[in-house]
Amino acid sequence: MSWDSLTDIANAMVEKGRGILAADESTPTCTKRFDSIGVESTAENRNAYRDMLFTTPGMEEFISGVILFDETIRQSTLKDGVPIPDHLTSLGVIPGIKVDKGAHPLAGTDGEKVTEGLDGLADRLKEYYDLGARFAKWRAVLTISDDAPSSECVSANAHALARYAAICQEHGLVPIVEPEILMDGIHTIEDSFVITEEVLHTTFYELYAQGVTYEGMVLKPNMVLSGYECTAQASVDEVAEMTVTCLSRAVPSAVPGIAFLSGGQTDEKASAHLNAMNQLLNGGGPWNLTYSYGRALQAPALKAWGGSSDNVPAAQDAFYKRARLNALATKGEYAANME
Ligand code: 13P
Repeated sequence: MSWDSLTDIANAMVEKGRGILAADESTPTCTKRFDSIGVESTAENRNAYRDMLFTTPGMEEFISGVILFDETIRQSTLKDGVPIPDHLTSLGVIPGIKVDKGAHPLAGTDGEKVTEGLDGLADRLKEYYDLGARFAKWRAVLTISDDAPSSECVSANAHALARYAAICQEHGLVPIVEPEILMDGIHTIEDSFVITEEVLHTTFYELYAQGVTYEGMVLKPNMVLSGYECTAQASVDEVAEMTVTCLSRAVPSAVPGIAFLSGGQTDEKASAHLNAMNQLLNGGGPWNLTYSYGRALQAPALKAWGGSSDNVPAAQDAFYKRARLNALATKGEYAANME
């Protein structure tokens, strides 16, 4: 597949049978992950960990693109010293880059957040393009509670996502538009449905208003789930049905693909939900449904790696397995007994 135009790139990112590896944890988030396995978060260790993932033999069968962090896009493979974006490109895996500057307090709200990073974005994108990036990611974070999300929070984040997306497209990068509604809390799946629909409608209104080309973008939403602390947990089939219904109401069919975040679901649930949605669409549907998972692709590999080069083969096996199972889920061919 060529990467000549925004639509080529967007289509390649979400092609059936492959998905995106989100490996763009900021240094503080990566440090949190390394703390969980007792490994010091140095630039060298972060390079070794990302190298383990990106040199997994055959990962390109299931991974269409990798989202990198600013530090990683400037690092190289350990064995051959090849710049990481060049290494990925040589495998036919599209390098991407996280470009937002994180979620910050939104004035006038009770603790809600707006994602920052628009200042100087165009210049940063020019550099990332020269380093090999062909897509970008910007994540907005919203919470559900009795008073949240407020309409100010929904519209401020949608406006920023659309401004980011327009700037990306002007500089030849496909924007991943990620309005993430956190699933922490006691809310029901019905609450999640209503808020997700509102956030997606508002986001697409802003994308339209700011002239973003739907054919040259990828949406990265949360699935519609019960809050993790809700006493009534929806079944896999309910999650699939409600997520597909919500998306079909709010996402234009011109968008080539939807690549879900995993958002703290277990690895198995993230695969099962994606699989059930693809079974519902039965190979049809207006958009390809795939993954852009961070934790749900990396968790077993991180544990198996444990900071030691001796464990690289075992960690790569664990990553390869999750990538393969999620790739099957994009075709509705995953089953729990494959675990
Ligand atoms: P998770 O799949 O771990 O939620 O991460 C995806 C991501 O990129 C969040 O921005």
